[in-house]
Amino acid sequence: MKKLALVVHGGAWAIPETAAEACREGCRRALERGWALLGQGGSALDACEQAIIELENDPIFDAGLGSHLNRDGRVQLDAILMDGRTLKAGAVAAVERVRNPVHVARLVLDRSEHIMLVGEGAEQFAVEAGVSLCNVSELVIAREVELWYKLKNEGPTAPGRRRPSAGTVGAVACDAQGNLAAGTSTGGTACKYPGRVGDSSLIGCGCYADNRAGAVSATGYGEAIMKVVLAKSASDLLAAGLAPQVAAERALAVLRERAQGTGGLILVDPQGRVGATFTTPHMAHAFRTSDSAEAVVRL
Ligand code: GLY
Repeated sequence: MKKLALVVHGGAWAIPETAAEACREGCRRALERGWALLGQGGSALDACEQAIIELENDPIFDAGLGSHLNRDGRVQLDAILMDGRTLKAGAVAAVERVRNPVHVARLVLDRSEHIMLVGEGAEQFAVEAGVSLCNVSELVIAREVELWYKLKNEGPTAPGRRRPSAGTVGAVACDAQGNLAAGTSTGGTACKYPGRVGDSSLIGCGCYADNRAGAVSATGYGEAIMKVVLAKSASDLLAAGLAPQVAAERALAVLRERAQGTGGLILVDPQGRVGATFTTPHMAHAFRTSDSAEAVVRL
């Protein structure tokens, strides 16, 4: 039996003191939900999916319920799950009526010949796969409406100015068979242009998993992360033999140097070694391996 490992994150950003405890608790619960499966012989994919569903259901994070609103005041969600055994991924982007986009991403992974579906097509696929769509207003919370009005009053975004993306979520896991998986889910940046898709649901950018290298989930400013294909870059460093923590630090250094971006990464390698690091003030995250009886939860 291989060493089990699960890492979850709730986004790399400047987490205010008022949100710190909720972020920690959210990560703790997500880790517990994923670990309950992994510890009983469940797959890395199932563990990542269930952990991310827990994070999407928690309004403290920018994923699922409580996501940032776009320029038009609507929630548009992106998510991906990737299987390190087959390199197959399932992803959805710009969906509006889906409570748990990572679950639809899982259905795309399992049941579709395609890797990514967007917008109406993704929602139609969800319905055909038996998922009930929600009303768009069900994903909107008061905190985000308030932020939306504040940003609208500030006027249009100047070129090069970055809107906040606070609380993308993700998970990486290694199961008893040594299979790796990774997933990421987000509501994207606040006041984003309708139809904007960031890094999170793009294979190699916000997420990558390869049993021969490692599993990676990224968080941070999508327009910078996409430029350096961050998750695949970190995975390549793992494949070259770097330890997860070192690989994460090097990949984030490239993000800073080449794209002037900040963010965070969680990783696991085929030996079940984990890494988690960030260049923002905080990154809510939690991890556990079968070497330890307890989860570690950090900001
Ligand atoms: N990393 C989340 C986004 O930019 O959409």
